[in-house]
Amino acid sequence: MPPTADQTIIDWTSANIADFGKAPLRLLHNMHTRPEFSESALARLLEGLGRDDYQLTTMDTASHDLRNWREGELGSLPGHDLLEAVKTGRIWILILGTDKLDPAYRELVHEIYAELRAHVPGFKTSREKMGILISSPNVNVYYHCDIPGQTLWQVRGKKRVFVYPNRAPFLPQATLERIALRETYEFMPYDPAFDADAMIFDLEPGQMLHWPLNCPHRIVNGNCLNVSFTTEHFTQSDRRTFFVNYANGVLRQRLGRQNLSRSIAGPTYWAKLGVAAAYKFTGQQKKRRKVVTVDFVVDPRSPGGVRPIPGYQVQR
Ligand SMILES: [Fe+2]
Repeated sequence: MPPTADQTIIDWTSANIADFGKAPLRLLHNMHTRPEFSESALARLLEGLGRDDYQLTTMDTASHDLRNWREGELGSLPGHDLLEAVKTGRIWILILGTDKLDPAYRELVHEIYAELRAHVPGFKTSREKMGILISSPNVNVYYHCDIPGQTLWQVRGKKRVFVYPNRAPFLPQATLERIALRETYEFMPYDPAFDADAMIFDLEPGQMLHWPLNCPHRIVNGNCLNVSFTTEHFTQSDRRTFFVNYANGVLRQRLGRQNLSRSIAGPTYWAKLGVAAAYKFTGQQKKRRKVVTVDFVVDPRSPGGVRPIPGYQVQR
């Protein structure tokens, strides 16, 4: 049920609001009780998805080898059968832009961001989005970073989240710039020695985690079906950081410049914005889309819930 007027989504009494966006912060929430995340609602959502509405992967859970991260298609099974395959298989589904697919989820995003604005001083955002993650027991999401501000909300099951500092060596500056330019994927080289500097959170239903912009992270599911969702956004500072990283990537790679300022204010920032705009909007950078090979379809009766099919390529 939606909360009554005096209920909030987040238990703000547990929050150290001064840490919001500055340090990884785990808070309590009640979104896991909403009907939009019931099994039947998720089954219905899965049945209506087009090819561009999701990413579906399987992976080797024992290694961190990107060659073992494979992409697949949902096929035409009923939603409940797809969920059954996730429960018993080795599958990770990300429903993209859920807020655009169904007004009920768009309303949830509006509620969440209205509450964040009301409780976090100076928090103003744009481009708010939601993605729903439905994933099998024990699957991994490999080490990566995201460009927008991110929050991970746990709805069902348990997962362990490792969050790393958003600086070198965990996040080399040149790598972040290439991700901003879409010249490389969000996945990054991972060294197990990084774990000594990670903050580790075991998320349960009704807990969410927000971390500072671009913090690398990786995720290991517990031995149970997991349902989570992400919300993402850009604050003004996030947007300026993106443009500076983008411009620095152009200057470093095209002009060989080094020791680039990361300032997001003053004349240096405005000059960088000019570089980014010139490169991004005058056609010097072609729209970069990722080409991926799809080589399996979901099948609850096959090992890992995936059945091989002849490979074909899709653009994302
Ligand atoms: Fe992520």
